[in-house]
Amino acid sequence: MHNILVTGGAGYIGSHTCVELLNSEYNIVVIDNYKNSWEESLKSVQKITGRIFKYYECDIKDSEKLEAIFKKHKINAVIHFAGLKSVAQSNIFPLDYYLNNVWGTINLCRIMKKFFVKKIVFSSSATVYGDSPEIPFKEDTKKGKLSSVYGKTKLMVEEILRDIKKSDNEWSISILRYFNPVGAHESGLIGENPKGIPNNLMPFISQVAADILPELTIFSDDYETPDGTCIRDYIHVVDLAKGHILALNKILINNTFDVYNLGSGVGHSVLELVSAFEKACLTTVKYKIGPRRSGDLPMLYADTTKAKKELCFCASSDIEKMCKDTFNWQNKNKSKYYKK
Ligand code: NAD
Ligand code: UFG
Repeated sequence: MHNILVTGGAGYIGSHTCVELLNSEYNIVVIDNYKNSWEESLKSVQKITGRIFKYYECDIKDSEKLEAIFKKHKINAVIHFAGLKSVAQSNIFPLDYYLNNVWGTINLCRIMKKFFVKKIVFSSSATVYGDSPEIPFKEDTKKGKLSSVYGKTKLMVEEILRDIKKSDNEWSISILRYFNPVGAHESGLIGENPKGIPNNLMPFISQVAADILPELTIFSDDYETPDGTCIRDYIHVVDLAKGHILALNKILINNTFDVYNLGSGVGHSVLELVSAFEKACLTTVKYKIGPRRSGDLPMLYADTTKAKKELCFCASSDIEKMCKDTFNWQNKNKSKYYKK
């Protein structure tokens, strides 16, 4: 049985992927510095799967600790989620983002190389396409201008991984560009737990519906889209997690360098998401229309042909299921939203 090191495994996408890894009979070792998560989510992963695994409080920048973990466990591959992810914060604290996301990944790869672990799945983002007008985005779409340091860190890491592969063909690498992950595990035991007031749409909607926040501000309805609000490609986090298993299976068998879009391939506007949430959860979401948020693109969604063809990837959950599972998690974990 393969041993997979999951960095950032206590986080939102990481914890859901840990569940899928354990359900697919992989062994896992998790590291996280809990900067944006809690150890509790790993206990929930154990509860959901009925499987025990080792996890460590460890920063990917901490070479000594990381080496000790590689020494202790025979790791076969790494799924690398650890990173800071706030678009707005990245522009305020660029050094923190470059240090954590870029240098952290370099450090991880150096240690992987030292221990002859040359297989990695990396969490990238649709943000690397920047403001490219070629919608839907294909993996080889010419990239536009990037407006955030966060996006630049993702693109830099993609380039670093590409160069590593060029220099040493033993590496097997899968870069996954996520679109907009939403939803939660059906159990309601793990989900997205943003610190403070959420930046992203779905957690904001669900906190309004749960009476934690008074009202949603929709960032403008004057875009050139059918209802004037922005269109995004929402994907259920469990579908996304399953995509990682497919990518992992491939890098373990083949010696490869791949880039895949992981989205649903369908675009939904902000207003569509609000009304889907109301319908699916039998609730109301109070909202007002506000000004545009700087840097928002009117429309983006994925062309998922490549992932479908090469990985047999299929995002099966619809928008209703995404809303239901989000609200279920929200209602079961209300108090957690006030922590930290
Ligand atoms: P998250 O913040 O919930 O998870 C990231 C985890 O990494 C957290 O548990 C955090 O504590 C940990 N971490 C951060 N820096 C670390 C470090 N130096 N050492 C060890 N652990 C560290 O975020 P998420 O939504 O689960 O995202 C996972 C990955 O996917 C990130 O790399 C993110 O940039 C990327 N991504 C997320 C989205 C999204 O919308 N959620 C979209 C595209 C890409
Ligand atoms: N929105 C609102 N009100 C809010 C929050 C969001 O109207 O309170 C709107 C935004 O203007 C946007 C849409 O909802 O049109 C989605 O916004 P999110 O912040 O949820 O998501 P983004 O598409 O802006 O960005 C997300 C992640 C990025 C990632 C990107 C990839 O936050 O990290 O998806 O597609 F890079």
